[in-house]
Amino acid sequence: MRILAIETSCDETAIALTEAEGGLNSPRFKILKSAVASQIKIHRPFGGVVPSLAKREHQKNLPLIFKKVISEKDISSLDLIAVTVGPGLEPALWQGISFAKEISKAYGKPLLGVNHLEGHIYSNWINPSVGLPKFPAISLIVSGGHTILSFMKDIKTWKILGSTRDDAVGEAFDKVARMLKLPYPGGPEIERAAKKGKNIIDFPSPMLHSSDFDFSFSGLKTAVLYYLRDNKKINKNDICASFQSAAFEVLIKKTLRAAKTYKAKSVLLSGGVASSLALRAFFKKEVKKNDLNFFAPGLKLNTDNAAMISAAAYINFLRKKKKPLKADGNMEI
Ligand SMILES: Nc1ncnc2c1ncn2[C@@H]1O[C@H](COP(=O)(O)OP(=O)(O)OP(=O)(O)O)[C@@H](O)[C@H]1O
Ligand SMILES: [Mg+2]
Repeated sequence: MRILAIETSCDETAIALTEAEGGLNSPRFKILKSAVASQIKIHRPFGGVVPSLAKREHQKNLPLIFKKVISEKDISSLDLIAVTVGPGLEPALWQGISFAKEISKAYGKPLLGVNHLEGHIYSNWINPSVGLPKFPAISLIVSGGHTILSFMKDIKTWKILGSTRDDAVGEAFDKVARMLKLPYPGGPEIERAAKKGKNIIDFPSPMLHSSDFDFSFSGLKTAVLYYLRDNKKINKNDICASFQSAAFEVLIKKTLRAAKTYKAKSVLLSGGVASSLALRAFFKKEVKKNDLNFFAPGLKLNTDNAAMISAAAYINFLRKKKKPLKADGNMEI
């Protein structure tokens, strides 16, 4: 099945053409074409995403990328169009939905709404280099808007075990970077600086010992703020290394505890923060130490992209599951 997917939930305008095949036990995806127009430079001066600017950029970029990526021949071979309907910034989501409706009508192709977070999870099924995830599995989404730990009984059945009570982990990276006067998005900047620094500042790993599976990152963020207030001479690299390590520590601890509690066979990481090579290496080492299979999507599939939306669309298509074609900024997984 050939799927054209559109993603505009935040500050990336993305379109992908994917070939999907197989059943729910072993879905396979091949990315035929994929393009992402990043708006990072536009939002950078504001230190974060400005919804009205994101909307304007999506409106401008969608027809351009569509024309660049998709030929008339591609359109005739399409079986399905998919579009992200939530969660995300509603003005941004609406741009993608309206565009998808237009092309669906113009070319007479069916249209399916997709949950962005399902896209993050199912990005683990695209071109996996280490085979397909085995169930039961524990999935951890670490992104700009979410930190969600869930138990997956199989590819279509999951239960949320815990999530963040305040900032998402990516959001904490972005905010700490801003405190350190590092550019947006902060995650890659902090990772770069952390490589040159030492983990020698004792920042708290919030909720490390709490018996639930929830997270909290605002205390850690405040600890960095107080450290900056109380210390005249600072080493940014050491702050980044120490902050990153405190954040990662709680992510792995809770993930491994969940894996043990639920007798999982695999651990699946996804979302923008999963593009951190430091996080991937740390998770891989710790997960393997516990005799579990570790999965993380290919590097370009962690931050927002449309290939992951086509993967979620295919799985929902197989399940005959449909989401209403209207933007839902707070849509839950
Ligand atoms: N190398 C990295 N280290 C840590 N964080 C990173 C890295 N690269 C990207 N990030 C973080 O990933 C986040 C962006 O991820 P993503 O694009 O999935 O978020 P989003 O789509 O805005 O949120 P959501 O998926 O929850 O709706 C940003 O907060 C960014 O700082
Ligand atoms: Mg995302």
